[in-house]
Amino acid sequence: MKTKPSIGRPDMAEVIPMATESGWQPNIVAMVCRWCTYAGADLAGTSRLTYPATVRLVRFPCTGRMNPLFILKAFEHGADGVLVSGCHPGDCHYVQGNLYARRRFATFKALMEFVGLDPRRLHFSWVSASEGAKWVHVVEEVSTAVQAVGPAKRAGGNDAALPAAATSRAPASAEEHEALARRVRKVTADLLHDGEISVVLGYKHGT
Ligand code: FES
Repeated sequence: MKTKPSIGRPDMAEVIPMATESGWQPNIVAMVCRWCTYAGADLAGTSRLTYPATVRLVRFPCTGRMNPLFILKAFEHGADGVLVSGCHPGDCHYVQGNLYARRRFATFKALMEFVGLDPRRLHFSWVSASEGAKWVHVVEEVSTAVQAVGPAKRAGGNDAALPAAATSRAPASAEEHEALARRVRKVTADLLHDGEISVVLGYKHGT
């Protein structure tokens, strides 16, 4: 089924599973930059182009402002797929934001399997303000790809939408936290020393 989606800024918590008479359709959260892809999607709307009503747009100032944790959050709240789209390289309104984003998300995609998410659920594209038709094409392609993967499981299984690490219990006290941190440091130092790994990525609370 094709409809003309509205362009609004949804609350991710409102993403709910979709079902149509013809069967299941994926929920796709499209994180777009306001200057290029959002305007391109708007152009598709004003040009009366139609595309699958599978995407919910979330508008950002720039793809460089998007944090990989936002992607995890989208999956946590019921997305079956995520599309990240912004200005073409060289056209970013903040000069290099999209280049940083490209590197950050390429790394994130490589880590998806590790945290239990199917990488086929995450897509990237460049869509400018004048590319309404390209936006339609991208949405159709991504919808088809995510539909082929199927619904994301919300708990358990190999493709749990929320990685186990994100749901694990936080340390109960400062001492427990410090003991855990010491263990993590020791294990990573040993792995680096033995050459088993060459890079460690770390996160602190909220980033
Ligand atoms: Fe569009 Fe940076 S302003 S990607």
